[in-house]
Amino acid sequence: MGKKVVILGGGVLGTQIGLMCAYYGYDTTFWLRSESSIDRTTPKIERYSGLMIADLEKAKALVGNPMGKFLYPKGLISDWSAATVESIDALIAEGKKNFAEKVYIELDPKKAVEGAYLVIESMAEDPKAKIAVYEQFKDLLDKDTILCTNSSTLLPSMFAEYTGRPEKYCSLHFANTIWANNTAEVMGHPGTSEETYKEVVKFAGTIGMVPLQLHKEQPGYILNSMLVPFLSAAQALWANEVADPQTIDLTWRLATGAPKGPFEILDIVGLETAYNINQMKPAAQQEGTLENRMGKLLKEKIDKGETGVNAGKGFYDYRK
Ligand SMILES: NC(=O)c1ccc[n+]([C@@H]2O[C@H](COP(=O)([O-])OP(=O)(O)OC[C@H]3O[C@@H](n4cnc5c(N)ncnc54)[C@H](O)[C@@H]3O)[C@@H](O)[C@H]2O)c1
Repeated sequence: MGKKVVILGGGVLGTQIGLMCAYYGYDTTFWLRSESSIDRTTPKIERYSGLMIADLEKAKALVGNPMGKFLYPKGLISDWSAATVESIDALIAEGKKNFAEKVYIELDPKKAVEGAYLVIESMAEDPKAKIAVYEQFKDLLDKDTILCTNSSTLLPSMFAEYTGRPEKYCSLHFANTIWANNTAEVMGHPGTSEETYKEVVKFAGTIGMVPLQLHKEQPGYILNSMLVPFLSAAQALWANEVADPQTIDLTWRLATGAPKGPFEILDIVGLETAYNINQMKPAAQQEGTLENRMGKLLKEKIDKGETGVNAGKGFYDYRK
């Protein structure tokens, strides 16, 4: 039996992180709250594992193509320069086997984390819910288990005292579509031990990620310190009725050469996450503000089930 990794939460990111762990041979357990969570997470496991295998299949056609090095799924193939059709076929076979044999779902919190080497909390971006879960787990974790949070906007120092192991706790933050966009930002809080930090950096490398080391706490890490203001600016243009999402996206793509515009990115991130981030701004609670209007517009789409790529529809329709 290999090392065990546990993911708390089986949402968009939790599922992707867990699958990368399984792909690289870790025994991977998703802890979920209820039977109904299983019904929501199982299709995500199927969808993301399918997408990973499909991207490996597509990569075979890129072997020998000079553009291949920009397009291959970086988290799934460690050395592109040595990749051949046969080596990718072997990765596909091993990946499928690991997805079938190394992915577990557990509802019982104690059983879920028993014997875990590392636990990654990837629950909704809600501080109260995160604290409740840390308190629920703090006496259940083995003494040596490392605990990480994948929170995008909250600092580990906000939660360290609730974990029961502040020295073994830090942030390990992934980007969406983790198997292709393989960044892992590692950020300690002032009480994180050097040993834990180094171990988490090492772990990230073992699941196909490029560990990016932050020297101090920074809300939003490196990526979201840039991305969140960008996406908010796009939503403000939309909420202020300056232009529609498609025109805003087109402007960004044409003017910068970027492959995706802000609303295409929001569809990948998921509108619930965008909404949760919006709701944390004090102005979002005040009637008549632009932030309040942005929140209402996002909520209208969420209520219609248009939550992004995962739902088949967001700002764009992906069902065709
Ligand atoms: N979506 C992204 O692009 C992205 C990128 C990087 C990091 N993150 C971070 O990852 C975390 C999860 O985000 P996501 O996009 O996967 O969200 P999501 O809404 O898709 O999933 C959240 C998961 O948490 C579970 N959950 C919610 N409340 C809970 C509670 N009280 N107890 C137990 N489980 C609970 C839900 O059932 C679900 O499985 C957040 O902290 C987010 O900031 C998200």
